[in-house]
Amino acid sequence: MDRIRIVGGNELHGVIPISGAKNAALPLMIASLLTDDTLTLENVPHLADVEQLIRILGNHGADISVNGRRERQGESYARTVHFTSRNIVSTTAPYELVSKMRASFWVIGPLLAREGRARVSLPGGCAIGTRPVDLFIEGLTALGASIEIDGGYVNATAPAGGLIGGRYTFPKVSVGATHVLMMAATLANGTTVLGNAAREPEVVDLAKCLNAMGAKISGQGTSTITIEGVRSLSGARHRVLPDRIETGTYAMAVAMAGGDVILEDTEASLLDTALEAIRRAGAEISDTNNGIRIVRDGAGIRPVDIVTDPFPGFPTDLQAQFMGLMTRSSGVSHITETIFENRFMHVQELARLGAKISLSGQTAKVEGVSRLKGAPVMATDLRASVSLVIAGLAAEGETMVSRVYHLDRGFERLEEKLTRCGAHVERVSD
Ligand code: UD1
Repeated sequence: MDRIRIVGGNELHGVIPISGAKNAALPLMIASLLTDDTLTLENVPHLADVEQLIRILGNHGADISVNGRRERQGESYARTVHFTSRNIVSTTAPYELVSKMRASFWVIGPLLAREGRARVSLPGGCAIGTRPVDLFIEGLTALGASIEIDGGYVNATAPAGGLIGGRYTFPKVSVGATHVLMMAATLANGTTVLGNAAREPEVVDLAKCLNAMGAKISGQGTSTITIEGVRSLSGARHRVLPDRIETGTYAMAVAMAGGDVILEDTEASLLDTALEAIRRAGAEISDTNNGIRIVRDGAGIRPVDIVTDPFPGFPTDLQAQFMGLMTRSSGVSHITETIFENRFMHVQELARLGAKISLSGQTAKVEGVSRLKGAPVMATDLRASVSLVIAGLAAEGETMVSRVYHLDRGFERLEEKLTRCGAHVERVSD
């Protein structure tokens, strides 16, 4: 199994190309099941989760081709992928496939809308809390679906004439349930109004693509989304938006290691709250014509408190990385996680590098230390694993991160992107 070896101490200087967002690419790919026409997605990141979803969509009958010509983007490759689901050959998403990635559960929306039924295994994915599916079930029920859970599967059936537009207000903000209900409602009879919807940029990106396919969605980016059902959707061509989590991760890596780096093909407006926290920690951040420049020279890292929240708040997917940064701050910071109840598995691994962190409920108290020392550590989930890389960049000596398949789920060519900026990071295959 591959491991990542980091020798800390080098500053970062150069350019890092930011990939298309994993969390946008996945729902966009799933949206291709809504039409018998071809959906072409540009800027699709090459990640284990994307490959897994390609297998899942293939199981439902999608014909998928990746452009032979790869679009060059610095050292990274953004691929153009064509999805054509002329016929849905199976409305069942089996346990073996869905358990590997939670987002694959989301096929329930398009399958139900287009075929009138879906049988989808309860999901797996990152071990960060219980992550139930009650909101999906309540929401789809509000569109007229009958749903029962049997033997680990969710069996959903639409009324004879198809789903019916309805009103549903989420009791809690959910990105995934917003994606699914928005997709399902595009083909429903009548108008659907979703209240307390997620406002994440990936939701806006999905709405934009669905509208290009002929859907009638408005209000995306606000907490009320209105979807007027249409009879059918057509193909379209859509470019996946930049990955704000990857952007924030590299910004934090530069803030940690010091240096001067341009993050290319991204937008500061996708992550204002996180960039503000990094600025308060002592880095200078400015816009360039195609991205963001981040500089930290000489000055130490200041302690900053953060609380994770749905967009536009501080993203939970950057919480672990920010904790990595705070381990070297000059004081005490508090990091509060409000989205997932068990998202502190990186704490004990960061402690192996010499970090001083104590947990009290959903808040971590991080007492900055003047030095971290390299050690063997284990990746526990996707975002936690990259916090160990960030800490390793500033640790003395060698940090060896095992279980890097977690990293490969969400970070395209991480070691290459960091190495090009002067870091000592390499993949070791046993
Ligand atoms: C998405 C992102 C993930 C990110 C998360 C929050 C993708 C592929 N994943 O995950 O990276 O960390 O948003 O920004 O885009 N909940 C329920 N019942 C439900 C659904 C969710 O209680 O039916 C809860 C969850 O347990 C969690 C909270 O709602 O506590 C938010 O989860 P949600 O926004 O749905 O996360 P995902 O869409 O799974």
